[in-house]
Amino acid sequence: MMLTTLTIGGIIIGSQLVLAQRFPPSQYFRPIRACRAHQPLQTNRSTDLLACTRETFRVSNIQDLDVDKNIVQISHENGYLIDSYNVTTSDGYILTLFRISGGRKSPARRGKPSVLLLHGWGNSCEAWIALPNDKNLVFMLADAGWDVWLGNFRGSSFSLQHTILNADRNLNFWDFSFHELGLFDFPVMLDQARRVSENDKVFVIGHSQGATATLVAASEVPGINEKIHAAYLMAPAVYIGGAYDPLTTPMLPIASTPGEDLIYNLLQGRIQLRNPRLLFSSLGIQPKDICQSRTLRCKLCDLPTLTPFIFNHNQMNYTNIPRMVSKLFDYATVKSFLHQVQNARSCSFRYYDRGARENLRRYGSRQPPSYNLNRVRGPIYLFWAEQDANVTPSDIQRLVSALPSETVRAVIRVNDDTFNHEDFSVGRDANVLVYKPLIDMMTEFNDRFEAGI
Ligand SMILES: *[C@@H]1O[C@H](CO)[C@@H](O)[C@H](O)[C@H]1NC(C)=O
Ligand SMILES: *[C@@H]1O[C@H](CO)[C@@H](O)[C@H](O)[C@H]1NC(C)=O
Ligand SMILES: *[C@@H]1O[C@H](CO)[C@@H](O)[C@H](O)[C@H]1NC(C)=O
Repeated sequence: MMLTTLTIGGIIIGSQLVLAQRFPPSQYFRPIRACRAHQPLQTNRSTDLLACTRETFRVSNIQDLDVDKNIVQISHENGYLIDSYNVTTSDGYILTLFRISGGRKSPARRGKPSVLLLHGWGNSCEAWIALPNDKNLVFMLADAGWDVWLGNFRGSSFSLQHTILNADRNLNFWDFSFHELGLFDFPVMLDQARRVSENDKVFVIGHSQGATATLVAASEVPGINEKIHAAYLMAPAVYIGGAYDPLTTPMLPIASTPGEDLIYNLLQGRIQLRNPRLLFSSLGIQPKDICQSRTLRCKLCDLPTLTPFIFNHNQMNYTNIPRMVSKLFDYATVKSFLHQVQNARSCSFRYYDRGARENLRRYGSRQPPSYNLNRVRGPIYLFWAEQDANVTPSDIQRLVSALPSETVRAVIRVNDDTFNHEDFSVGRDANVLVYKPLIDMMTEFNDRFEAGI
């Protein structure tokens, strides 16, 4: 007994000593929040507690046949031409890219302008089809005559292969953050779209972390800016010092402390949300019920209350919940999240904090260096939402002032007081409030370019 206690004590003290080398205790006493927290706009939120139950009851016998189909099947069935490509990054990750080159409304032909869509954290490219087929960005773009490329970052369920590492067996597979998505994934996906489409330049649309990766690439990868026509960034998670969402806020005290390693190891680098058996069984739902039953929908009604930064009652289409759940959630990677929380705490946009000693060795300074947003070349169009609790309006202001002023062509507030971070992919009216104006802007830009104006 005594011996066991001593051994455990020894392990704890030993690991403390090892960890203290990485993060000196002085780091723990830095302020939890360097930025002033954002004050959300007060809106008249309807607190109709029965709304969900009522809606759920109303739609409970509607079956959504697309729930169990993937993007390839859904595209085929709706008359879209879809191809897939595997590309390998310079650090060995094999990523799958999809291309939708045409459909019934706009058949495939050479010379269409290309656009690369980059999904957010915890998503795969299927998040772009979480809304019904006539209302999601992918098919709207294809119908409007665009050559649509769908990127899948490393660690999303379409991009789990590596030349050496095994995602299930090697924890190292998951040792990346949005830094690597920008440095390695972004350039190979962009180049593949350019090569196959034979377009010199490609348009880019990024949501949240997809936008972060775009800006990391634009500030770090030589020559990349010249390959981008224009970037349309929705809720870019760059500065998030004002974040008050329920994921980031409780993690702030852990940022840049040994607690990060603990969480990374405990979760083995990722959380699997795509087949969220754990989540569902803890809610008392059987896997066979997933996405169809009334029980599930009722339980999911609590989501807007539990995670207010993701879901928004006002923009929720209850009939679409099964499809939303099956398309939106994917693997959530731990280190990307920790990197964001570090930046939220330090109110900056900089490299991963590896502790003073390792920072000094890798970066030549005790503090991680900031990304040099001065190197970004536009044009850039920013879309932001009033009630975004992850990327707040004040964070967007910071980003706008950090970017070279000539690169920012437009900063667009979504015209809805309740619009939230995840509404960019699942909001009932995203097609009208965001996608339609975005496609119009891109089309106008492209027409002017082709006319040589
Ligand atoms: C909120 O509701 C109050 C009382 O019904 C009303 O006077 C006010 O104009 C509303 N505010 C907004 C922003 O809709
Ligand atoms: C891409 O890689 C995946 C996984 O290894 C494989 O199943 C798929 O057939 C490959 N696709 C192409 C187009 O090579
Ligand atoms: C709500 O979702 C359903 C199922 O996906 C869809 O058929 C319907 O058109 C959607 N309604 C609105 C208003 O978006």
